[in-house]
Amino acid sequence: MKKKTTILGIETSCDETAVSIIQENGSDKPSILSNIVSSQVDVHKEFGGVVPELAARSHIEKIDMIAKKAIEKSRIKIEEIDAVAATAGPGLIVCLSVGLNFGKTVALSLKKPFIAVNHLEGHALSPKLNSKINYPYLLLLISGGHSQFLSVQGLGKYKRLGTTIDDALGEAFDKTAKLLGIEFPGGPKIEEYAKLGDKNYYSLPKPIINRGGCNLSFAGLKTAVLKISKTIKSNQDKYNLAASFQKTIEEILCEKSKIAFKEFKKNNKIKKNIFVIAGGVASNKNIRYKLSELSLKEKFDPIFPPISLCSDNAAMIAMVGLEKYKHGINNNLDFPAKPRWPLDSKAAFLKGAGVKL
Ligand SMILES: Nc1ncnc2c1ncn2[C@@H]1O[C@H](COP(=O)(O)OP(=O)(O)OP(=O)(O)O)[C@@H](O)[C@H]1O
Ligand SMILES: [Mg+2]
Repeated sequence: MKKKTTILGIETSCDETAVSIIQENGSDKPSILSNIVSSQVDVHKEFGGVVPELAARSHIEKIDMIAKKAIEKSRIKIEEIDAVAATAGPGLIVCLSVGLNFGKTVALSLKKPFIAVNHLEGHALSPKLNSKINYPYLLLLISGGHSQFLSVQGLGKYKRLGTTIDDALGEAFDKTAKLLGIEFPGGPKIEEYAKLGDKNYYSLPKPIINRGGCNLSFAGLKTAVLKISKTIKSNQDKYNLAASFQKTIEEILCEKSKIAFKEFKKNNKIKKNIFVIAGGVASNKNIRYKLSELSLKEKFDPIFPPISLCSDNAAMIAMVGLEKYKHGINNNLDFPAKPRWPLDSKAAFLKGAGVKL
C-alpha cells in the first residue's frame, strides 16, 4: 500500500496561533486530520488592533499546547509526520519567530525536512484543501494586510496583475467598523449590519475605478465613511452606512475583476479559466455571491475556500508544505523570518503618496 504523506503545519504570523495536520490519501484533495486555531481577539480588543509584543507573548504561551492538541486530534503518531511546514513571512517578526523556531525544532528532533512557507501562498492554495485546482489560475487575495490580483502560474510562480495602492480591503472593513463603534476585527459584523440597512442610502466613492488597471484603492472610501459617521444619529443610520459600504466594495471588486479577467486571458490561453478568491474577506457571503455571479457570466469558474479556512489557519500552511514536499522542496534551518515577502518579487512597490498608475 502506498504510504500516505502527512504534513504538520504551523502558523503564527499575526494574532492566530494555529497548528494543523493534513494527510494526502491519493484522492483529489488531502484530508484535514486536525486544524486547531487559537485566536487572540480578546488580547487585542481593547487596543483596537494587534499589539505585536502581546501577540508574540501569547504565541509563546500557547504554541506547545496547540501543537499537542493538533497531534492528539489527528490520531497519528508524531513519528508519522513526513515534514514540518511553518509560516516564515510576511507578518510581525516577533510573532513569526515563535512558530518558525518551534517548527524548526520539531523538524530537527524528528529528523524530518523543514519547509518555510509564505503566508500569502497559504491563502493562495487554501482552496486546494476542498477543490481540485489546476494551474494556471487567477487569484484575488483579499485579507487583513493584502489586496491583490495575481496570475498563479504554478507552485511559487506568481505574477501580480494589480494591488491596493493604500489600504487592504480587510483593513477598510475593520476601519469602517471602528467608526461605527464595532470592536476589532469588525469585518464580519459589517456584513451583519449591512443586511439590516438600505444599500442605496449613502453614496460612497469608488477610488481609481476608471484608471490604474486592476489596481485597487480604498483610502478615499475610508475618508468618506469617516465624514458620514460624524452625522450618524441612529442605529438605522449605522446599518445604512454598513450596507452602502458593502455595496460599494462589491461594485469595486466586480469592476476590477472584469479588468483582471481580461489581463489573465491575454496571457493564458486555456480551455477552463479559474478564478480563486481567498483571504479573510473572502468569507463575506455577499462578496462570494457577487463574484460568483460575475465569474459565471464571464466564463470563469469561481472557487473559494470553505468559510472556515478563509481567515488565518495552519491547514493552508500545511497545504503549501504538502505541495513543496511533493516537489522535493525544503529549507535549511537557518531560513530567516521575513516580515516582508511579496509573492511576486519582481512587482513594483505601489504604495504611498505619489504612486504613478
Ligand atoms: N465576513 C467578513 N466580511 C468582511 N471582512 C471580513 C469578514 N471576515 C473576516 N474579514 C476580515 O478579514 C481580515 C482577516 O483576514 P486574514 O486573517 O486573512 O488577514 P491577515 O492574516 O491579518 O492578513 P494577511 O493575510 O494579509 O497577512 C480582517 O480584516 C477581517 O475583518
Ligand atoms: Mg492571513
